[in-house]
Amino acid sequence: MRTETEQTIYLKDYAPTPYRIVSVELDFRILEENTRVRAQLAIEPRDTTAPGTSLVLDGDGLSLSSIAIDGAPLALASYAADDNGLTIVEPPFRRFVLETEVFLKPESNTKLMGLYRSSGTWCTQCEPEGFRRITYYLDRPDVLAPFTVRMTAPQALAPVLLSNGNPIDRGDAGDGMHYAVWQDPFPKPAYLFALVAGDLGSITDSFTTVSGRNVDLAIYCTHGKEAECHHAMDSLKRSMAWDERRFGREYDLDVFNVVAVSDFNFGAMENKGLNIFNDKLVFAQPETATDANYHSIERVIAHEYFHNWTGNRITCRDWFQLCLKEGLTVYRDQEFSSDEHSRPVQRIHDVQNLRTSQFPEDGGPLAHPPRPDHYREINNFYTTTVYEKGAEVVRMLATLLGEAGFRKGMDLYFERHDGEATTIEAFIKVFEDASGRDLSQFITWYLQAGTPQVTVSDSYDGASQTYTLTLTQTVEPTPGEPDKKPLLIPVRFGLIGPNGSPMSWNGVSGGTVEGDLILLDKPSVTLTFSGVANKPVPSLFRAFSAPVKVSSNLDQADLLFLARHDSDPFNRWDALQTVSTQLIAEAARGRRWSDDDAHALRQALVDTLANPDLDAAFKAQAIAIPGTGMVSRHIGKDVDPDAVSAARKDLVTTLVGPIADQLAERYAALVSDAPYSPDAAQAGERALRNGLLQLLVSGAGRGDLAQKQYETAGNMTDRYAAMAIAAQSWTDEAPALLGDFRTRFAGDPLVFDKWLTASAQAPDDGVIERMRAILAAPDFPKTNPNRLRSLLGSFVMSGSTQFTRLDGAGFRFVTEAVAEIDKVNPQVASRILTGMRILPMLEPRRREAGRVALETLKSQHTLSRNVGEILDRILA
Ligand code: ARG
Ligand code: ZN
Repeated sequence: MRTETEQTIYLKDYAPTPYRIVSVELDFRILEENTRVRAQLAIEPRDTTAPGTSLVLDGDGLSLSSIAIDGAPLALASYAADDNGLTIVEPPFRRFVLETEVFLKPESNTKLMGLYRSSGTWCTQCEPEGFRRITYYLDRPDVLAPFTVRMTAPQALAPVLLSNGNPIDRGDAGDGMHYAVWQDPFPKPAYLFALVAGDLGSITDSFTTVSGRNVDLAIYCTHGKEAECHHAMDSLKRSMAWDERRFGREYDLDVFNVVAVSDFNFGAMENKGLNIFNDKLVFAQPETATDANYHSIERVIAHEYFHNWTGNRITCRDWFQLCLKEGLTVYRDQEFSSDEHSRPVQRIHDVQNLRTSQFPEDGGPLAHPPRPDHYREINNFYTTTVYEKGAEVVRMLATLLGEAGFRKGMDLYFERHDGEATTIEAFIKVFEDASGRDLSQFITWYLQAGTPQVTVSDSYDGASQTYTLTLTQTVEPTPGEPDKKPLLIPVRFGLIGPNGSPMSWNGVSGGTVEGDLILLDKPSVTLTFSGVANKPVPSLFRAFSAPVKVSSNLDQADLLFLARHDSDPFNRWDALQTVSTQLIAEAARGRRWSDDDAHALRQALVDTLANPDLDAAFKAQAIAIPGTGMVSRHIGKDVDPDAVSAARKDLVTTLVGPIADQLAERYAALVSDAPYSPDAAQAGERALRNGLLQLLVSGAGRGDLAQKQYETAGNMTDRYAAMAIAAQSWTDEAPALLGDFRTRFAGDPLVFDKWLTASAQAPDDGVIERMRAILAAPDFPKTNPNRLRSLLGSFVMSGSTQFTRLDGAGFRFVTEAVAEIDKVNPQVASRILTGMRILPMLEPRRREAGRVALETLKSQHTLSRNVGEILDRILA
């Protein structure tokens, strides 16, 4: 029997199962006390299987109450069941039907994997390995079968009965019970199975596909929340139309259902025809949801819908290939958002997210390639590297092949692999075949961890009118990967002349340049451009054409020149960010900026604000000063976060001071009394106004403005921004605003989350004590992932200087909380613990304090495999 130990699983050990599952029939009898699950699995050996090979099914904490093959109960000697599975010794060497029966206790399932109950509703989460907590099965993504699901439940408790596919029957089952039967004709892996039974409200709509088929759409939710589901429904319909337009992908079932539940381990899940969502990614109304919430809802609804083709119709051969579906689907949802709103603003948003979450992962102890080759706990690999870096890799492919070439490859992918469980190699192969291009170097992006660093140097020779540009790439070693191969890095670029307009050249030698793309495919490439009339300023990595860090040779004047003149909006934004980051980083190391430097940056910000050609959403991003976390990572080692935070505050004050009145006027002029709409134009204006408020509060002590905005706000975006900004600067008004917010929205759990987040981000020395009190309060919902993540996840991930306190109190608070949460929900616990990955870059005393906290966690508690793996990797 296999044991659940610290065993490592390796990609190189992949082998198909000796048996196939031909079809699945499940019968659920759901009662208050327990749920009975009967499974009938039609199973057959593969052609290559030797007679007598045991059939080994996964099971997690199941207890078997009956077992039969082709209707005949099995003798005790012919099978063995334990906590990890069920082995059938010498099953028939032909197709047979295995019948098992187990009883589940969804009520006490606090891990939220398998079948559990959330606010009374029975629901499931199976990806990646939850189905084995429902029945014995070959619970791996390369085992695909059609499912028929029958469920019977008390009519009063669960009038709504849903599963995957199309509904084919329903009726009365006597004794207050009723039943429904669902059939999913598309063979699928078990991780896409879902079931929902509950007393739910709903809104319905329909979508006519491009070929004229009607699809019934519904979103299910707690009674009373129906009115808050319309934004999600609207997003769903736009997603369905977009996937037809942009990728030629049509929906394939008669119904598409979405269910919102309150207890959920992550964002949402793409179960075939029955997406299950964390309710925070469904519910929206202006009084309680922010623009950011509206945006996330749209994005995640789209993401899960897009999985129907990239994930469900074509799935992963094994979990090492997770980014095959996740990276690709994130790329698709980013493209959707770009097409629906502003492309540059979306790009900045996505890159900012990559830099603040993925770069630190890739540069720390938890670094791993988008396609890892080993793991202890697969749940620990649903990471920003797999998702967001995975999306960047797909984006580079699209950059290299061009839009039409990329689409041709995608068409071939769908044609060749529909119905299959496949790999990254097969994905890359379709693009090679469709384009005739050799992508053998490109695939390294999937196989190697670490963020490449690209160093730039250039020179100009006026006499010969030649411009020389040298790009050098290096990748620091990451855990287990001491030596790095050079990557194929696409560098979208332009040269800008002294008057700010694009410059041309008449020849280039020394490397490959395709249009506005340099292919950096060696450790170092030196390009010589001829016929360049003046010394240019290079604009490199336009639209962030590769997920790399650039150490540029440009000085502040060049960067501010780009900020004014670059035709690429992303690089305009990035230039401003780079200038601020460098000034703060230098000051934190004791070299404060000169007055001239501060003045020039201030002027660039003022001019950006005044520029009539830029939209408000872009301006909001442009005037934002990079956070402490961002600057700390720029410094990279021996970081003292308190020094960084002080330098940042100093810079904001320096910049804002002389223009505070001007900014305040601008701020005041942006008030609007138009009724709330989450559209890009309105949201952009609010973002700019709140960006100005942020500067005024943190740089000019205008806590009064936050207070006033909080009191008069007509929507949650403005109210929350006012409170959060006050809390982050811990103004005199902050405690009262937090107090008011808490009571004003008492009873709304998703607003409570916002309060928890703002509370955790307060910088004052009292924050840890306050958080301890929040957690200890008798009515704090200790098993709800959203509540725990809002408080603790925000604390560890937001760059709080209280988390990295010199006395170690922040680290102790977090590790103690993790020990408690681990007993209830290991996935949530290990996710919070990943915040400790920051340790290696801190200065020695903080690093040591963090290490002691981790060692204590390890020695004093029995830890889950999830937490154990993260802890060992950080300590290694
Ligand atoms: N596949 C889901 C998505 O759309 C997420 C599943 C996450 N599962 C986990 N165990 N963390 O991204
Ligand atoms: Zn996904």
